[in-house]
Amino acid sequence: MSHHSPLDQIDRENVASLEVAWSYDAGEASEHDVSQIQFNPLVVKGVLYGASPSLRLFALDAATGEELWSFRPTAGGNAWNANRGVVYWEDGDDERLLFGAGPFLHAVDARTGLPVSEFGNGGRVDLREGLGRDVSGDLMGVVATTPGTLFEDLLLLGGRVNETEGAAPGHVRAFDVRTGEIRWTFHTIPQPGEPGHETWPAEAWRTAGGANAWAGISVDQERGLAFVPTGSATPDFFGGARAGDNLFANTLLALDARTGERRWHFQVVRHDMWDRDLPAPPNLVTILREGISVPAVAQLTKTGDTFLFHRETGEPLFPLREEPVQTPGLPGEAPAVSQPLPTRPPAFVRQHFSLDSVTDRSPEAANSVTSRLEGVHFGPLYTPPSLGGTVAFPGLDGGAEWGGGAWDAETGLLFVNANDVPWILRMVQFGDEADSLSAQIAQGYLYQCSACHGLDMSGDGGPIPSLVDIDERLGFLDLYRLIRDGRGRMPGQAGTLEWWQSAAIAWWVYYAEEEDVPSNWAQNAGDSKRFGNAGYQKLLDADGLPGSKPPWGTLTALDLSAGEIRWQVPLGDYPKILEAGRRGLGAENYGGAVVTTGGLLFLAATPDERFRAFDKLTGNVLWEAELPASGFATPATYEAGGRQFVVIAAGGGKLGRPSGSHYIAFALPETD
Ligand code: HEC
Repeated sequence: MSHHSPLDQIDRENVASLEVAWSYDAGEASEHDVSQIQFNPLVVKGVLYGASPSLRLFALDAATGEELWSFRPTAGGNAWNANRGVVYWEDGDDERLLFGAGPFLHAVDARTGLPVSEFGNGGRVDLREGLGRDVSGDLMGVVATTPGTLFEDLLLLGGRVNETEGAAPGHVRAFDVRTGEIRWTFHTIPQPGEPGHETWPAEAWRTAGGANAWAGISVDQERGLAFVPTGSATPDFFGGARAGDNLFANTLLALDARTGERRWHFQVVRHDMWDRDLPAPPNLVTILREGISVPAVAQLTKTGDTFLFHRETGEPLFPLREEPVQTPGLPGEAPAVSQPLPTRPPAFVRQHFSLDSVTDRSPEAANSVTSRLEGVHFGPLYTPPSLGGTVAFPGLDGGAEWGGGAWDAETGLLFVNANDVPWILRMVQFGDEADSLSAQIAQGYLYQCSACHGLDMSGDGGPIPSLVDIDERLGFLDLYRLIRDGRGRMPGQAGTLEWWQSAAIAWWVYYAEEEDVPSNWAQNAGDSKRFGNAGYQKLLDADGLPGSKPPWGTLTALDLSAGEIRWQVPLGDYPKILEAGRRGLGAENYGGAVVTTGGLLFLAATPDERFRAFDKLTGNVLWEAELPASGFATPATYEAGGRQFVVIAAGGGKLGRPSGSHYIAFALPETD
């Protein structure tokens, strides 16, 4: 979890001569630009393990890229089912890989790629079982997107669950690596008699979901402590049915890795209404206090903060302050009064949105954003979701995200790449039961389409088209196929909806007259106090670029002992900016960095399809290579046959970028 490598063959002096050593085409990229590879390759004993866009696991000779074997899991991948890595475990000549795909955790023989039959049920465990609640009907009910973490013969694992009502609970579990049995479970939504139960309505533990650890668990092997970051409770943006602080959602938990018992915890967001999951695995770090080394754990957040705690006691290592939550929030909502924030280090993104924050790229861009802000709430970090819309700044993906931080003990620096763009969070009120058929279908549009095309079907004025009068531009069957299969950035619904549901939405979109489109979507709501999110929408200008002033993405070096930012640089660019002859504005980015003793920080993650090496002391770019698709993933560096390699998966498929399927390894030219 440190994202650090002691290798130093590639260094500041020679990095500029890196060249492609091998590349491997994993195939299976979708033609609709939505497949991705978020996989962080793992190299053990000269073998590299990776996964294709549809989650075929494969082993390559790490020196040549030649394929050794490949394993096709039972449940393949789709856009909802990323996989970020695999775990290697060995005992004598028993060598295993533990690999999550869909709702299954597979154990595979690391030498042959064959299932380990004594593990679970014929080599796999169904993560939806043993939760104490039946979620078997939902194929994506629990998905291990992030690999588990080993402690002795236990695999500690959280998972991704749905973010809406009816989602699975986010239990943290330890699986026996040999048998797949569950050895302990920690209820992140406490049950009667468990501490924290009082921070929920009494019966919530039976129905509430989420509070899941999807970002990855870090284990202090020496102390036997597992640090578990959890996400928000569901539904994400309205907590009317979950009054209270909702422990242990949005919490950094320190658990006894052997038993799952809680040692300490810190809740970063009380009663979350903004989907501020803890998005990154905690970094185990050491900081200096008056010349003494203190074992610490650093937690990065979507809000762009860095919380530092003493690993053993949970004591905060910099004073905290309380940031007030703006009121009143939606009817029926009971927001927490305030939320804790660290006084140091400073936030690495902006946290307050005002008219001064609006893009100054051009007067047209500024005007388009200002007009979109009419009736929208904005201001301090914790401004609650509203029916008119609320600006979330930083956006709902962070701040920091799943790439996490890279910790360099030699310099005491924690490196973090972050997004710095505003989103709009718009809520709608639901009826208790949509009573008429047409209201039910309208709700289908609300759930599946309005996030992008808007409540009034008018698109976003940018890359997402308006659907008003679509019958004049498209035949009905073409519309149905488009909904089923997707196109460009629009995901197909084939895996999500039954054909008749897609057909019903197509019918509604096609034949809806203006008066059929609910003006406030609340026509059947009555007294209901149920609210949902009307879309994950970014606040964009008319060209589809972020509505805030640049930089839109950054790379920051945090000096954790001093609690200061050592340096910060814009990270990458949008292709549109480069085409316009500008650069250095930064861009949204997904994927993490790896830092080396050679003085370098390797990071791709940007939509400009570049892979870069930064000087870890200054943030200067020392090398940059073009990839066949954006590397929205975390690279790995390793040694094989006496050479240092650095490898990245170029899977694209985010931020409107084309998908790809290559793993590309770079090394210095061979000297003989
Ligand atoms: C993730 C965002 C997203 C979602 C969700 C989404 N769309 Fe789209 N949609 C797009 C984008 C982007 C395009 C433009 C596609 C292209 O570039 O070819 C598009 C295009 C379309 C078009 C073609 C418009 C035209 O003028 O050619 C239709 C029709 C459409 N979407 C309907 C729907 C419906 C109905 C749903 C819900 C079932 C839906 N979309 C869900 C993003 C989305």
